[in-house]
Amino acid sequence: MIYLLIFLIILAVISFLGLVLVFSFLLAILKGAPYIATDKKKIKSILNLANIKECHKAVDLGSGDGRLVIALANQGAEVHGYEINPFLVWYSRWRIKKAGLSDSAFVHKKNFWNVDMQPFDVIVVFGIGNIMEKLEAKLESEAKDSLRVVSNGFLFPSWDYTDKEGQIFLYKK
Ligand SMILES: C[S@@+](CC[C@H](N)C(=O)[O-])C[C@H]1O[C@@H](n2cnc3c(N)ncnc32)[C@H](O)[C@@H]1O
Repeated sequence: MIYLLIFLIILAVISFLGLVLVFSFLLAILKGAPYIATDKKKIKSILNLANIKECHKAVDLGSGDGRLVIALANQGAEVHGYEINPFLVWYSRWRIKKAGLSDSAFVHKKNFWNVDMQPFDVIVVFGIGNIMEKLEAKLESEAKDSLRVVSNGFLFPSWDYTDKEGQIFLYKK
C-alpha cells in the first residue's frame, strides 16, 4: 500500500512538472517566440554588430538558456536577460554562475513586454515576425536615442537596418 502511495505521489509530481514545462513553452509562443537557441556562428555575428563597450548595459529579450547573456557579459557589459520559461531561467542562472559572471550577468523571470527599455544601450532579440511591429513601437517610445538593436532573423517594419551579417540585422535608433 505504501509503495502504491509513493508511486502515485511521484507520478503526480512528474505530471505537474510536465504540465508546467508544456505550459511554459506554449506561453512563450503566445507572448513572443518559441525557444530556439542561437548557434555559435550567429552569436559571433551578433557580437560583431552589437559592438559592446564596457560602459554598456545590454539586454536579451527572451534570453533562452542564457548563451547570449553570457556572450555579451564576456565582452565586459552589464547584461540582463528576460525570460518567461522558469526552467530556462533556472538553467541560465546556473550557467552564469558556472561562468563566473554573477556580477555582470542577470536573468530575470519576467515578460519583456513589461520591462522599460530606457536603461539599455544594446538590445538583442530573436523573436518571431509578428512581434516586430509591437516591439518597434515600444522602442520608439521608451528606448534611448543612441540605442543599437541587433535582431536575429527578423526585420522591423518601418526602420531601416544600418548593417547586417547574414540574417542578423543591426538597427541604430
Ligand atoms: C527564439 S528563443 C531565443 C533564445 C535566446 N535569446 C537565443 O538567442 O539563444 C526566444 C525566447 O524568448 C522567450 N520568450 C518569448 N516571449 C517572451 C516574453 N514575452 N518575455 C520573456 N521571454 C519570452 C522564450 O521562452 C524563448 O526562450
